[in-house]
Amino acid sequence: MSGSQTLYRKSGSQGEIQTLNDLVRHEFSNELLSPEEKVDRLLSLIENTDDRFTLCCVLPTRKLVMSLAGLMQQDCIEGSGQDIILSIGSGSGILELLVQRFLKPPSVIVGVETHPINLFLPSECCILTQRLDILDVAKVRTLFACYLRRPGLVVDYLNLFPEVNKIILIGPRTESVFNDESASQVLLEWGTISVANDWDDVLAAWDQVLVVRRKLPKTWSS
Ligand SMILES: C[S@@+](CC[C@H](N)C(=O)[O-])C[C@H]1O[C@@H](n2cnc3c(N)ncnc32)[C@H](O)[C@@H]1O
Repeated sequence: MSGSQTLYRKSGSQGEIQTLNDLVRHEFSNELLSPEEKVDRLLSLIENTDDRFTLCCVLPTRKLVMSLAGLMQQDCIEGSGQDIILSIGSGSGILELLVQRFLKPPSVIVGVETHPINLFLPSECCILTQRLDILDVAKVRTLFACYLRRPGLVVDYLNLFPEVNKIILIGPRTESVFNDESASQVLLEWGTISVANDWDDVLAAWDQVLVVRRKLPKTWSS
């Protein structure tokens, strides 16, 4: 297995269940649990430990995943068909798995990654960048990214998915997309930007959520 494929798989010594990451992966593979029970179990493990959690760049507490799900579904047009939230750089996929639990159908999160490092998203909901063409462009209406690191990528994805109405970016305040002059110029022309400011008890002090809403939102008839 290549380095990238083992990125989120490192275990305690001799494969014993020792760390929070081990426990989370172990519970995720527990076939006796329903998908809903799994998510509840993972959330309580994550919330009730002081151990380091490295399967995601933010700590995905219940409050955080519910707030993100709410934000993703805000302004959704009822009956407008499937709404794909495309998560750029979904990593292990755990944040997306947890958020999906709180989204109302037909909204669905699909993760995209450069390498096969997904552990938690169902295979049909995680694609590699070279297979992006299998997505129905018309259904991708929200872009999401957590700790993307390369702000310019948002613009690349906006060009690939012209039906997008909203972009949600979670990450360190010091790495805002607006530190990138050319990306911020495109985004300022495309949409109106707000910093979610009532998330203090949801996020780490150094993180923020930026929301960019298209100035002239597209509507769909079906
Ligand atoms: C800092 S990690 C964040 C991963 C995950 N979102 C998290 O919060 O743990 C950034 C991710 O972006 C992915 N990435 C880099 N370029 C990308 C691209 N062009 N399309 C999709 N993902 C990309 C990387 O492989 C990496 O997994």
